[in-house]
Amino acid sequence: LSTSTAVRSAIKHVTVIGGGLMGSGIAQVAAATGHDVIMVDQTDDILAKSKAAIQKSLGRVAKKKYADDGEAQASFVGEVMSRISTNTDAVAACGKTDLVVEAIVENLDVKRRLFTALDAAAEEHTIFASNTSSLPIKDIASATKRQDRFGGLHFFNPVPMMKLVEVVKIPETSNETFERLVNLGKAMEKTTVECKDTPGFIVNRLLVPYMMEAVRMLERGDASARDIDTAMKLGAGYPMGPFELADYVGLDTTKFIMDGWSQKYPDIEIFRKSDLLNKLVAEGKFGRKTGEGFYKYD
Ligand code: CAA
Ligand code: NAD
Repeated sequence: LSTSTAVRSAIKHVTVIGGGLMGSGIAQVAAATGHDVIMVDQTDDILAKSKAAIQKSLGRVAKKKYADDGEAQASFVGEVMSRISTNTDAVAACGKTDLVVEAIVENLDVKRRLFTALDAAAEEHTIFASNTSSLPIKDIASATKRQDRFGGLHFFNPVPMMKLVEVVKIPETSNETFERLVNLGKAMEKTTVECKDTPGFIVNRLLVPYMMEAVRMLERGDASARDIDTAMKLGAGYPMGPFELADYVGLDTTKFIMDGWSQKYPDIEIFRKSDLLNKLVAEGKFGRKTGEGFYKYD
């Protein structure tokens, strides 16, 4: 297809699978930038929580957008919410959509199973993308027969605030697919960067080992978590210290990333697992989302 055809076939309808931290953020920003969105998760209860989180976040955005105008704020939130519908059936939700963005648990087998099921139900033109933090896009895409219409679309937490999207190509990804993913990133008012299908792409290949080095520093007793966080905020200008950030990302997700990398690349020292991280996760301390991680939250 020519470039002009690709531009004409811009993505209008997006199905987001997973309504957690990332899926709810992606659904929110897609809807706020004029796309029709279906958000999918496992239960209606989870979806109700996801919608409440979106509503709260939109409220914060609206306050900035329409400073002293309560009516305009409410109408903005209402209008964006009206573009988001929900469904607990991923297969039904991807029957008529331009793009499926997957943001479910960071587990290769679960992601592959999902995409195999979706591949049989989605229309020919539908593009599939994964928001995976650490898994090879190729390993997910190979569960489908549409590897030419498959790519990585990696957003950052919190999606409404973070301005970047990494767009990842596998060798099979067609130029048209890649272009449509980049255009969607731009339509969602993000800056896009291109990266090969390497572990962690650009940001996480640098950020996750950094967070894990901080955990190892704490394990060795070199400094306290508080002091390491203070040091990186005031000494390096980071908005959050590494422990605040790990709690924000989710210690469960961080552990899934490290489990995958340490298994796949046992000789790379910075991909080593951490006993302390594993212990916190085993205790159900996943960070902010469960009220406790390295720190406690109200
Ligand atoms: N929705 C809408 N608005 C939000 C928001 C959200 N979820 N979170 C924060 N904001 C807004 C607030 O309304 C506030 O706006 P004003 O300044 O106009 O009042 C502004 O952001 C600042 O918020 P706070 O004062 O609450 O806190 P802050 O100054 O610390 O900013 C932050 C919050 C933007 C999250 C900032 O701390 C930050 O950038 N942290 C680092 C985040 C980061 O590194 N993310 C990447 C994680 S790694 C990843 O995502 C990849 C992966 O695969 C694991
Ligand atoms: P999360 O735990 O907040 O949410 C995951 C959601 O997926 C949950 O609501 C869960 O119920 C749902 N889910 C699980 N299996 C499902 C299935 N088969 N069908 C439908 N829904 C299902 O996790 P998250 O932080 O949103 O991460 C989601 C993905 O995004 C992961 O691949 C993660 O690596 C990646 N990611 C995370 C971050 C981050 O900072 N947390 C940033 C970028 C990318």
